[in-house]
Amino acid sequence: MTALTLSTAAVPGLRADAIVIGVAKGSASKPGGPVVAPGAEAVDQAYDGGLAGVLETLGASGAEGEVTKLPAPSGFKAPLVVAVGLGAQPEKDSGYDTEALRKAAGVAARTLAGAKKAAFALPLTDAAGAGAVAEGVLLGAYSFDAYKDNGKDGKNGKAPLAEAVLLGGKPRDKAYKAAVERATAVAEELNRARDLINMPPNDLDPEAFAAIAQAAAKEHGIKVQVLDEKALAKGGYGGILGVGAGSASGPRLVKLSYTSSKAKKHLALVGKGITYDSGGISLKPAGHNETMKCDMSGAAAVFAAVVAAARLGLEVNVTGWLALAENMPSGSATRPGDVLRMYSGKTVEVLNTDAEGRLVLADALWAASAEKPDAIVDVATLTGAMMLALGSRTFGIMANDDAFRSAVHEAAEEVGEPAWPMPLPEHLRKGMDSATADIANMGERMGGGLVAGLFLREFVGEGITWAHLDIAGPAFNEGGPFGYTPKGGTGSAVRTLVRLAELAAAGDLG
Ligand code: BES
Ligand code: MN
Ligand code: ZN
Repeated sequence: MTALTLSTAAVPGLRADAIVIGVAKGSASKPGGPVVAPGAEAVDQAYDGGLAGVLETLGASGAEGEVTKLPAPSGFKAPLVVAVGLGAQPEKDSGYDTEALRKAAGVAARTLAGAKKAAFALPLTDAAGAGAVAEGVLLGAYSFDAYKDNGKDGKNGKAPLAEAVLLGGKPRDKAYKAAVERATAVAEELNRARDLINMPPNDLDPEAFAAIAQAAAKEHGIKVQVLDEKALAKGGYGGILGVGAGSASGPRLVKLSYTSSKAKKHLALVGKGITYDSGGISLKPAGHNETMKCDMSGAAAVFAAVVAAARLGLEVNVTGWLALAENMPSGSATRPGDVLRMYSGKTVEVLNTDAEGRLVLADALWAASAEKPDAIVDVATLTGAMMLALGSRTFGIMANDDAFRSAVHEAAEEVGEPAWPMPLPEHLRKGMDSATADIANMGERMGGGLVAGLFLREFVGEGITWAHLDIAGPAFNEGGPFGYTPKGGTGSAVRTLVRLAELAAAGDLG
């Protein structure tokens, strides 16, 4: 991954492939052309204070996501200046919004793929800004080329930016150092989640995922327990077993326990880990299964968040539950009409084998509940309906507690993840009434994302605060890259989960 350092070096003498600066949109008081953001003073001076005009001539407006390249002024050691759009200028006296900095840094880092070293001279006013730029650089530089011949040596795609120097911060200041360290740990684990999501399903089956989790847990002092199909059968995990029944690769339930001696709170995270969702006997039609390797994004996010919590040494206990299975049709697969006895003891009539996520989550939620954590948050690419409702960049938040749902939403907003609260309307519950079993795994089609949430709620232990994040939209980016988000696996929800763990550690969560 890109190597990061904080530096106070002067821009003109800096040996690098490029200097990154910020450009904002002209404000009401200064209408018209783009405005050069703080941090770029040296470049502006070399242009005799005329950099804004030069940028305007080149067509720059300062809009978010915009990139304008220009040759560096004479006397500079770096040959290139990359001006990246920051959007609107901040209100007087307040610094640039952290998400604007994160996005701009991400765009610049991606633009600089193939370069060895770049200096980022973006407008920093505090440690949070430095952390955001660091995160943006590390997330924006990401590329997945493990399966491309010669991918790393530039013959078949450019290598990610190798080195980034962050200017304008305070390298010796504790807060700045801590912000960059935090950003590095979170971004590295988030990028690892992206790698897992992008890995083809013939290489990442439940067993392989569990082995990767086991190795990482060992490396970071996290306790790990893996239940294989035998142990799952012995324990009565009918949901996970039922979903995995059709696959040649058996299901797994992975429990990752990070504990801190100073912990006062216990947060449980539960992730949907369908390594491939074909739909099962209720097979998905062509056109709906090409990206279904992404159906383990929830488990990848939980895995990344637990490891990040350990790396950051957060003073909170975090237990991660990865519910791993491959949903395939075969002679041994669960049929529509089958009844499963779940880990909780409830019976479920499977009316549609493509509504499999709620089945594996139900068992993991019940297992998580047995430890009586202070809160449970599950993360899942659960329904196409949530995608229809919120689009491809926003995840839905449902909860059995209004205050907790708001807290999760606030945490998401803080870290720059678009999310929105969704209700759990009681009247939708009766649509899942089954003539044969306690509940069916499907209900009304309308409000399908909420129906799935209501199903999950039945498997949360009495009195436990719970939230459900449906990341079906933002988990996998089928379009082009934007901001610090690449094509493919995005690492959606990782940063929200880490923030929740931090809040729990600080005693600020429930
Ligand atoms: N994994 C899918 C949901 C999904 C769809 C995720 C598109 C990402 C992109 C889930 O298992 C599923 O198939 N859900 C069904 C449920 C239905 C059968 C009740 C759906 O949403 O159609
Ligand atoms: Mn499905
Ligand atoms: Zn699925």
